[in-house]
Amino acid sequence: MNSVRIEQDQSGIVHLILDKQGASANLMDDAFRADMAKAVIELGQLDYPGIIIRSAKSTFFAGGDLVKIAGVTKDNADEFYQMVESIKASLRALETGGKPVVACINGAALGGGWEIALACHYRIALNHKAVKVGLPEVTLGLLPGGGGVARTVRKFGLEQAMPLLTEGKQFSAEQAQNIGLIEALATDEAEMLVMAKAFIEANPQISQPWDQKGFRLPGGSPSSPKLAPMLAVAPAVLKQKTKGVLPAPEAILSAMAEGAQVDFDTACRIESRYFVELVTGQVAKNFINTFWFQLNEVKAGASRPDGIAPSKVTKVGVLGAGMMGAGIAYSAAKRGIEVVLKDISLAAAQRGKDYSARLLDKQIQRGRSSEQQKAALLQRITPTDSADALAGCDLVIEAVFEDRGLKAKVTQEAEAQISESALFASNTSTLPITGLAQASSRPENFIGLHFFSPVDKMPLVEIICGEQTSDASLARAYDFVLQLGKTPIVVNDSRGFFTSRVFGTFTNEGIAMLGEGVSAAAIENAALLCGFPVGPLAVSDEVSLTLMEKIRNQTIHDLAAEGIEQAPQGGDATIDRMIELERPGKLAGQGFYDYPDSGKKHLWQGLEAQFFQAQAQLPLQEIKDRLLFIMAIETARCVEEQVLTSSRDANIGSIFGIGYPTWTGGALQFINQYGVEPFVARADQLAEKFGDRFRVPASLRDMAASGQRY
Ligand code: NAI
Repeated sequence: MNSVRIEQDQSGIVHLILDKQGASANLMDDAFRADMAKAVIELGQLDYPGIIIRSAKSTFFAGGDLVKIAGVTKDNADEFYQMVESIKASLRALETGGKPVVACINGAALGGGWEIALACHYRIALNHKAVKVGLPEVTLGLLPGGGGVARTVRKFGLEQAMPLLTEGKQFSAEQAQNIGLIEALATDEAEMLVMAKAFIEANPQISQPWDQKGFRLPGGSPSSPKLAPMLAVAPAVLKQKTKGVLPAPEAILSAMAEGAQVDFDTACRIESRYFVELVTGQVAKNFINTFWFQLNEVKAGASRPDGIAPSKVTKVGVLGAGMMGAGIAYSAAKRGIEVVLKDISLAAAQRGKDYSARLLDKQIQRGRSSEQQKAALLQRITPTDSADALAGCDLVIEAVFEDRGLKAKVTQEAEAQISESALFASNTSTLPITGLAQASSRPENFIGLHFFSPVDKMPLVEIICGEQTSDASLARAYDFVLQLGKTPIVVNDSRGFFTSRVFGTFTNEGIAMLGEGVSAAAIENAALLCGFPVGPLAVSDEVSLTLMEKIRNQTIHDLAAEGIEQAPQGGDATIDRMIELERPGKLAGQGFYDYPDSGKKHLWQGLEAQFFQAQAQLPLQEIKDRLLFIMAIETARCVEEQVLTSSRDANIGSIFGIGYPTWTGGALQFINQYGVEPFVARADQLAEKFGDRFRVPASLRDMAASGQRY
C-alpha cells in the first residue's frame, strides 16, 4: 500500500495514515481507491476500539485527482464511475463498522479531503491558519462526488447544505467549528490525538445519525410545508443566478433534492451519476484547465523570465490618489508594504488615504478586520504633495490622469528622487508603454502595471512590457503582483494592450447592435445569458461614453501621426448621438440607462425612439455569437501580433480582467471548444453579414486548416 498506511497504537486504536508515497499531497486517485479497499479488508481481521484517520503530509488531503478527472470522457466514464463507487464503498464500510472513526485534520481538507472527514463520526482540527475545510468542487464545475452531497444534506438539512455545496466556500478551523463542520479544535498534534482517543473511549459503539432508526433530515424533509415551496422554486432561482450556463450548481441541487427523498446508499448513487455527468462535460474541463492548471502555472511564475533572483518591494510610491491610486495604495499597505501616496495637494492625497479607512471600516463592521489592523495599515500610508517623499521607494506606480504630457512630467519628477535601480510603472489603461517610456531616463526600468477597478476586489494585474523593458524589470513586476496576492498576466505593448483592446470590442459590438436597430433589452439580456457579468450598454455607462469618445479621438490622432487611418467603429455614431443628447453615462445620472435616486437603474425608455428601426430582430443566438466571437477574434489578433505570448495569459486575462464568461474557460479556450475550423466558418458568416471586423487573422485560418488549437 503506498497511499494509506495502517498502524495500531498501544491502546489498539487503528491509525489510517494518509501518506501518498513520492507525492507532496494525498490524492483521491486509483492508488487511494485500491489502498482503501485493502484497508477495509485488513480491518476486518483486526480487533480495535476505533479508528483515527490522519495525514503524514503538511495538508490533510488534497482532494480529487484533477489530472485524471480532466482526462475522463464519455468513452472511459464507466471506469471512472467504478473508481468513485469503490472509494465511496470503502468510506461507507468504515462509517458503518460500528466503531468510532475520528478525523484529525492537520491542514487543508478540501473537496475529497473534506468528504473523508465527513464520513467520520467526529472531526478534530488543529487551530491553525493552514487548516481550511470545505467543498470547493463547484468552483471547478464539479460536485462533491465522494458522498459529500449525501452527507452534507443529512448532517445540516437541505436549507443549510445549499450554500455549503453551491457556493464552494472554504472555512478556517475556527469558522468551521462555529458552523458545526468541525466538532473540536486542538492546539497541536499531540493534543489532537489525546482528544481523538478520548472520543473513541467515550463512544465504543457508534453510528451516524442517518444510519439510526427514525432518522429525519434536520430542518425538515423535502415534502415538509417549509421546504417544499423552497425546493419548487430553487431551480428557477438558481438558473437566474447562473443564467443557465453553469451546469454544476444545478446538478448539485438535483443531487440534493433527489437524494434527500431516498435512503443513503441510493442518494450516493444519484450523486455519482450527476458527478460523472459533470466530469465528462465540457464546462468542467474548461474550469479545471483555466482555474486550476493555468492559474497554478501563473502563480508558479510561468510568464516570469527565468534565472532572475526573487524580489520583494518594501516601499512603493503611488502618484495620483484618485480612484486607482487610492486602491493601489490600499492593496499594497494591506500586504505590509510602506506606501507614499502623492497627489497635487496634501488634501487630495489624504482623501486617497481616507479611501483605505472606509474600506477597513466596512470590514470591521463585517467582522473581517479589527481597529488594531486598521490602525497598522493606515500607519503604512503616508500622504504627501511632495515628490521628495519618494526617496527610498523601490517601486513607483503612476496613476495620474490619462494624459501623456502629465505622465511624462511625473515620471521625471519621480526619477529625480528614486535610485537608478528602482522600477517605475504606469497604470495607464490605453497609452502604449514604449511611448510613455520615452520620458524616462531608464526605459529598461519602465513597465506597465495595469490594475482594474475596484483595485481591492479585482484579482488581475496586466503587466505590459515596452520595447526596452528589461527581463529583470519584468521579473520584479511579476514578483510584486504576486506579493499583492493578485494574478499577473504578461503582455507586450499595444494600443490598449490586451484587456482594454478586447474589452473595447465588446462595448463597441453592443453599441453597434443598438445602432443597427436591435432592441437594447435584447442586447443586454443576451450578454447576461452568455454569462457576461454585465451587458455592454450597462458597462459602457459605467466607463462613460465621454471617456470612450476621448480614447477614440486620441487613438485616431496617434494613428494619424503614424500615417494610419483608423476606420470608424460600428458604435461610433451611437456614442456621438448619446453625448449630443447629454446622456454620457452613470456618473451623469443618465446614459443608456436611467439611474433614479430611489430605485434600480433601468434602460432609458427613449432608446427605442432614438435608435429603434422597425425590422426583424436578430435571433438571440446571433446576438450572443457576435459578443463572444468579436472578443475571441480580437484575442486571436493579439496572439498573432505577439501582444499575447501564451494562451494561459489570454484565458486568465479574459475571464479575470474583462468578464469573458467563465464557462468558456477563456477567450482562446472558447475557440478550442467551439472547434477551430467551425469557429472560422462561423466567423466568416458573421463577417459577411456584419462587417470585416469578424474576419479572423491569418494565423487562426492556418490553424483551422492544419487542425491545430490554442
Ligand atoms: P482619477 O481622476 O480618479 O485620479 C487621478 C489623480 O491624479 C487625481 O487625484 C489627480 O489629482 C492626480 N494627479 C494629477 N496630477 C498629479 C500630479 N502631478 N501628481 C500627483 N497626482 C496628480 O483617475 P483614475 O481613474 O484613478 O485613473 C488614473 C490612471 O489609471 C489613468 O491613467 C487611467 O487611465 C488608469 N486606469 C483607470 C482605470 C479606471 O477604471 N478608472 C482602470 C485602469 C487604469
